[in-house]
Parts: sequence; structure tokens; C-alpha cells
Amino acid sequence: MAIPFLDLHKVNALHEREIKEAVANVIDSGWYVRGEALSRFEQEYAAFIGTQFCIGVGNGFDAIDIILKAYVALGVMTRGDEVIVPANTFIASVSAITHAGLKPVFVDADPYTLLLDEDKIEQLITPRTKALMIVHLYGKCAYSDRIRTICMNHHMKLIEDNAQAHGCRFGQLRTGSLGDAAAHSFYPGKNLGALGDGGAVTTDDPLLAEAVSAIANYGFSKKYYARYEGRNSRLDDIQAAVLSVKLKYLDEENDRRKAVAAIYDSCISHPMVRLPKNRAGQDHVYHLYPILVEQRKELQLYLQKQEIQTLIHYPVPPHRQQCFPQFHLISLPNTEKIALHELSLPISQVISEDEARFVAETVNRFG
Ligand SMILES: Cc1ncc(COP(=O)(O)O)c(C=O)c1O
Repeated sequence: MAIPFLDLHKVNALHEREIKEAVANVIDSGWYVRGEALSRFEQEYAAFIGTQFCIGVGNGFDAIDIILKAYVALGVMTRGDEVIVPANTFIASVSAITHAGLKPVFVDADPYTLLLDEDKIEQLITPRTKALMIVHLYGKCAYSDRIRTICMNHHMKLIEDNAQAHGCRFGQLRTGSLGDAAAHSFYPGKNLGALGDGGAVTTDDPLLAEAVSAIANYGFSKKYYARYEGRNSRLDDIQAAVLSVKLKYLDEENDRRKAVAAIYDSCISHPMVRLPKNRAGQDHVYHLYPILVEQRKELQLYLQKQEIQTLIHYPVPPHRQQCFPQFHLISLPNTEKIALHELSLPISQVISEDEARFVAETVNRFG
């Protein structure tokens, strides 16, 4: 039984007829950028997430970068201000901050949840701290009432990087509606993935929504009149039409991911493998299923021989990347340990329960 990490063809084949029809409709409409399919998806996604506004942009990186640049343009932040960000994240969360002319300040990971350690946030706050970015990494909700209180007490914006957690909940609410603004990626491998690049910003703030929408379209407040220094970062109508189709099935598909995770949770019992842990009531839509294992290289090789593909998320944390020498001396031990030991098992809406059991049993036979 060969199990690829993610079979994207199979993922999209689930909705092949509807996707092809939606794409054909856009082709026939003759309107490919900022057209009706985009407006429809923006409305549907805002309603799904539970925010007043959704603005489609080119990708998830741009979504974060444009939120920050919009805050700078609106005078909420100035260049050189600090944004607190989890150290254990994909590099885009950090490089979007530096790209916007701001300074990332890293919070180490909580060794239990692998998300940001809430106990370590307040000690990092300085007069220049203007925002806290939380990352719902692996698909797990990183928000808490305590985080909201910290942001309110210190007059910090709360920004969510929701690139990996579409559909994740916090009580009755969804991630992407919990802070002041949220960035979403629709990279094909995401829980809600396009057939190319795509992204969005969600917010309830009309001023921010206006600025984000303008900055993503050359800074135009009206055609050919640039209020802001902008760029071209747009979600095209073909991708938007595909996303409208796939959005209808997102909750159901996230439930399938949860079923695979439940099998891994209950069946993997290898003494050398640490399974992901969630706080009571913490929702998780399992974009990834990370395990921690000291013999990572050996386990990965062994699984590869059994035709089970795994990936590492991520082998080098942002503060240790070559492009960021200014952060190399910072010590973030929990994050560094995760980077050494993390291995992601295959998880998606197209992994069957039999396949999940096979993966779990194969892991248990390791060594
Ligand atoms: C946590 C996180 N943030 C940001 C991004 C950036 O998204 P994109 O690849 O669409 O630019 C990604 C996705 O790759 C991600 O996983």
C-alpha cells in the first residue's frame, strides 16, 4: 500500500465535475480579474469565517504583508515597530513582517502544544510592540481569551496567520475572525486549496479593509488614483470560482482529516514517538499531523521503504535561516528541538481509514 504525503489530484478529483463547470463559467464570462466569481467568493468566505470583509489577494505571504503595510499606511504602525510572532512557524509569517519594514520578535514554542508559549508573550512587549501575530500552525487554534486580554491591555493589534487552519473553530467562532485581521493562504496543498496560488485577508475593520483592497491593486482608491503605494496582488477569478466549489465541502473534509488524526492518536503507541497534544477543547483541523521523534531520520527512511511518504515541517526555524543572520544568536530551545525532531505523517481528506491504520501499524513496528 503506497501512501503519498498528499495526493492533490485525488483531492481535486473529488469535485472534478463541479470545478470544471465553475472554471468553464469564468472562461465563458470573459471576466478574469476582479470579476463576479471573485466577488462571490469574497462574500462566501467572509460569511464562512464570520467577518464583515474578505479581500482576495495573490497568496498567503501577500495577505500578511499587505495587512502590515496597510497598518503602516494608516499610521497604526511605523517602520521599525515590533511584531511578536511564534518562532515555530513557516518562514512566511516572519519574512512578511521584515518585508513590511517591521521587526519580528520571537516567542518560543510551548513544548506541549508546539504553538506559541503564552507565558512568554508579555516579557517581550516593549513601547514599540504594535502587534501580536498568532499562527494556527498545523491547523490548530492558537487563540485564547488570555491572548485577547494581553493584546487589549497592551494596545496591540492581534493578527492571525490562518494559512493552515481554514475552518478551525474557537467555540462558535472560526479562526480568521478572532483578531483584528487575518491572513489566509489558498496554496493548493492547504485545507482549502486553489489550483494555483491564492490568498485572502479577513477583517471587521472597514478602514483596514479599504486599505488592504487598495494596496493589493496598485494602491488605487479609484481607478488610476493611487492613495497608497501599492502593488498587484489579486486573487484571480478562476481560482476564486474553484475555491467557491471547494468551500462548500471544507467542514466535511476537515472532519475526514479529524477521523484520520483520531486513528493516529489511538493506534500509534511506539514508545519513541510523541504524538501531538491539544489543550482541552482546542480545535484542530489537521492540516498536518506532526509527531516528534528523536530518531527522525531513521523513522523517515524506514517509512519511505514501506512506501509511506512523510515530510518535515520545518527543518530550519525562521530565526536560524541563512537570510536572517541578525537572529542567529537568539536562543529558542523548544522551537529548535521541534525543528530537529518533527515529522509529519500523511493526512488529508483522501487518506482512508484503512490507510491511516496501516500508517499507524507501520510506525509501531519501527525499530
Ligand atoms: C503558516 C503559513 N503562513 C503563511 C504561508 C504563506 O502562504 P503562501 O504560500 O500562499 O504565500 C503559509 C503557506 O505556505 C503558511 O503555512
